[in-house]
Amino acid sequence: MITMPEINWGMFNSILLVCMYMSSEIDKVCSNVPDRGARENLQETKRNILIFGGNGFMGSATVEKLLRNNYNVVIVNRGNWYWDSATTVKPFVKQLKCDRMQSLQRCSDLQNFVWEEESIKFDAIIDFSAYQGFQITDAFDMLGSRIKRYIYISSDSVYEVCNKTHSELTREEDAVRPHDLDVQQKLNSQESYGHGKLEAEEELQRQCAKTGVLYITLRLPDVVGPRDNTRRWWLYQLWIQLRGYLERPISVPDNLWDRPLSFVYADDVADVVLKCIESDDKIYNQAYNLAFVEKPTLSEFIHQLLQEFGVHDIEIKRDFSPDALHLYPSVKLGPIDASKVRRVLDWQPTSWKQAFSKTVKFYEDVFKTPLPEFSQAQKDVIRILQVHFTSSPFRVLEGLKDKYGFQLEIRDEL
Ligand SMILES: *[C@@H]1O[C@H](CO)[C@@H](O)[C@H](O)[C@H]1NC(C)=O
Repeated sequence: MITMPEINWGMFNSILLVCMYMSSEIDKVCSNVPDRGARENLQETKRNILIFGGNGFMGSATVEKLLRNNYNVVIVNRGNWYWDSATTVKPFVKQLKCDRMQSLQRCSDLQNFVWEEESIKFDAIIDFSAYQGFQITDAFDMLGSRIKRYIYISSDSVYEVCNKTHSELTREEDAVRPHDLDVQQKLNSQESYGHGKLEAEEELQRQCAKTGVLYITLRLPDVVGPRDNTRRWWLYQLWIQLRGYLERPISVPDNLWDRPLSFVYADDVADVVLKCIESDDKIYNQAYNLAFVEKPTLSEFIHQLLQEFGVHDIEIKRDFSPDALHLYPSVKLGPIDASKVRRVLDWQPTSWKQAFSKTVKFYEDVFKTPLPEFSQAQKDVIRILQVHFTSSPFRVLEGLKDKYGFQLEIRDEL
């Protein structure tokens, strides 16, 4: 799924685009989803939520939380099931298959649904998979008269195409494009991902002003947690665990050495989405940054992993080369200020420490006690290690066997 050619900063940006696009369509977190019988009894009184995405990393965590809170969930995506979402999400939701790169007008699943369920209304749309303005326009064309609220999952990369005029943490009001059109265009072509996400935000505001639908935009930094489809956290973990079998020394680019980074926990995104849905109207028509309170540097993060695994005999290399490998952060502008959402929603993010332990444990278990649902994810991550972390691909398999007792089955041979 994720194939990485040469890894360098510029290249990694485009890989991230792919990863982010993939991961938006993906998702889940294990937990007790209510059984179907119990849910059907409540059908009449339940509130309806439509989710674009909902099978990816944050999306499936969000769907599960909504199900546990007795919402009726319709998800719209390309139909892939990642990690174990085929068992944790799929049986409990209505799924419509649409590709948002095509016009939704041409998506027969959605057309038929809208036609058959002519009276259905949605308390909210949660949009994990709009990357450009037209996708928002499309959603309003199809569903605008049936929705009250629209929660758009955006990104801190919108600030990359803006004119931030101070050196503190980036705040919501910094999302202002430069006046100068030449500067705008230059930024947009350098940061097309951020440009597209901001264009979608702008279109959402326009549509909401026109229709009276209420919106919230959530701007997320790099998302961490179990079941990440970009595999970035997992790769750092394996880089350390299999270091004796890989050639690439564990390193951090010099320019990132002391730089604090913003992250957000996938479960926290689900939490905030639910809080937004259950809040009254006055918190709407605004953007909110979401992040952990803690802002670790990349070297602190790697140190923490080393400690967790009891490794005391290696030093992290400071890499001065211009194309030094790093998988975080995906933005250049620096960390964000997420105090507004904590204040307005009276919300406490999970502590970095707690999220760290849970995430590490999850990825350790993927090779220690593998589930059949995770075999695709395993193969992807093995492939990336083989291509980018060593010139002896076989050593990766040796390492996995020695470290985790994990063996690829012959028919799975890469
Ligand atoms: C950025 O914002 C500042 C302060 O508002 C303004 O003076 C400056 O002209 C802006 N720069 C661009 C390129 O629009």
